[in-house]
Amino acid sequence: MDFDAERGRLIRETLQRLESLGRAGATNLPRVAFEQVAAEAPREPAPRAVATAAPPRAQPIEPVAQTTPVARPRPTPVAPGGSLFDDSGRGGPIIAPEDRPGLLASLALHVAECRKCPPLAAARTRTVFADGSPTARLMFIGEAPGEEEDRTGVPFVGPAGRLLTDMITKGMGLAREDVYIANILKCRPPQNRDPTPEESANCFPYLDRQIEIVRPEFICLLGKVAANTLLETGLSLSRLRGRWHRVRGVPTIATYHPSYLLRTPSAKKDAWEDLQMLMRAMGLPVPKRKE
Ligand code: URA
Repeated sequence: MDFDAERGRLIRETLQRLESLGRAGATNLPRVAFEQVAAEAPREPAPRAVATAAPPRAQPIEPVAQTTPVARPRPTPVAPGGSLFDDSGRGGPIIAPEDRPGLLASLALHVAECRKCPPLAAARTRTVFADGSPTARLMFIGEAPGEEEDRTGVPFVGPAGRLLTDMITKGMGLAREDVYIANILKCRPPQNRDPTPEESANCFPYLDRQIEIVRPEFICLLGKVAANTLLETGLSLSRLRGRWHRVRGVPTIATYHPSYLLRTPSAKKDAWEDLQMLMRAMGLPVPKRKE
């Protein structure tokens, strides 16, 4: 074995993982977590028993089901006349903002070890956990990483990602760093095919925990896969957009996926209407007219 090349590879992979954790909101790592990152670099065919490893003491990882899809709280539509801001339905404990970065970093480490979908785990360059602020008011949820995301470990950085960034910054007047961006799947499906129901169910506990930790005030589902998965429906996006839903009690909208908008520019008008509805609910200034 060429030990110098192997050492270089380990250092490169460790730095990439740490950068990705930083983007996911980690501001520091418990020592044990750092050792996990450093120890993880060589890809073994057999998974390491992370679920049984001693969790980092500073930020213990919450148990995430390894194989069994969890029973999820059913999404509820916002009742006509009901208040969008009545958050009595928001489940789970409120996690202190200062605890969120560490919990997300621990979860990201756990996800990086995941091999619940062996073909996806074998094909991925790296897992793609999230980007943005652990205390974001708004969470965007897309489908799955594409080629550039698989290479960089950051969600929505390819052509669709650039459009999403424009929607956030130029459309909504927010900074990309101020929202939280995640996907249904943390691994890239081969040839960017749609996630299978089994893959979505395997990955769902991670997203569910991200929602629980970040506890956003609003969620925006991007595209049919995210909308159908989280709203547990087979309805088309044109039936789901333009109105409010709830996911885990959080007021939620669904709109067109940026990839679809790149292929179908005529749908941008509807997507802009959806974003305006979101902005009004968030109390953000909405420009009078926007082309
Ligand atoms: N499409 C998605 O749904 N997610 C990404 O991260 C990139 C493209």
